[in-house]
Amino acid sequence: MNTRVSDDEFAGQAVLVTGGASGMGWAACERFAARGAAILIADTDTVSGPARAADLQARGARAAYFECDVGDPAACEGAVAETLRRFGRLGAAFNNAGFPGDMRAFHEQSRDSWDRVIAITLSGVFHCMRAEIAAMLASGGGAIVNNASVAGMVGFPTIAPYSAAKHGVIGLTQTAALEYAGRGIRINAICPGYMDTPMTHAATTPDVRRALAAATPAGRLGQPGEVAELAVWLCSSAATFVHGAFIPVDGGVVAG
Ligand SMILES: NC(=O)c1ccc[n+]([C@@H]2O[C@H](COP(=O)([O-])OP(=O)(O)OC[C@H]3O[C@@H](n4cnc5c(N)ncnc54)[C@H](O)[C@@H]3O)[C@@H](O)[C@H]2O)c1
Repeated sequence: MNTRVSDDEFAGQAVLVTGGASGMGWAACERFAARGAAILIADTDTVSGPARAADLQARGARAAYFECDVGDPAACEGAVAETLRRFGRLGAAFNNAGFPGDMRAFHEQSRDSWDRVIAITLSGVFHCMRAEIAAMLASGGGAIVNNASVAGMVGFPTIAPYSAAKHGVIGLTQTAALEYAGRGIRINAICPGYMDTPMTHAATTPDVRRALAAATPAGRLGQPGEVAELAVWLCSSAATFVHGAFIPVDGGVVAG
């Protein structure tokens, strides 16, 4: 049995990465491309997205950018259709885009923030999965990884909408994994802890990041590549018996 991901693991396959222009999504794009995948970066960032695709092309990969707000069901369907149009077949998808919303007490959360977080962070994964699963069923199978969060495994004060959305992502992951385990599609989730990414930097001061590192048993924030490596492994032929898992990559946060 193959237990490591070979250098040409994804040769001839296309991988769709939502939120692929930054952070964990970009780290995953780099790693999938390095193992032979064609990459479709589906992202709202119309500056970094094309630049990231050009970067992959400069390294010899097939890659393209598609403007996509995952809160828009038609855009999610469009991203899958664009992957098929450009690259022929969707082998894997990393549904990574998410929106954290406001940090505030539960009773002070606004309806607008709730609606936006649910639309992007939860419904976005649903819309992408629907289109991805249909494409994979039509072409003989594939693998999907959803980027959830440790906030989808346990409660997190001040981010109720986000925590609810990420719990929902795990529910979508497990339910779809059951429905398609016998039909050639493996579906799993990753639950990052406190990560050193632009999203975290946008929401925190250096003091807060030091406090988050101190609250992490490993004593530091996680690096995007540490999540991306698992995303690649979960989509690879090394993981053929892994269905419906949701795996923390969190320096030990939820073990406590
Ligand atoms: N940063 C953390 O500590 C942390 C922890 C656990 C889970 N997560 C989750 O991991 C995922 C990636 O986070 P990151 O920290 O790498 O973020 P990031 O901000 O570095 O990158 C997010 C990317 O998603 C894109 N994006 C944002 N809204 C989008 C939308 N509606 N449609 C399509 N693309 C959109 C952005 O343009 C950006 O390129 C998110 O789902 C986030 O909730 C993050």
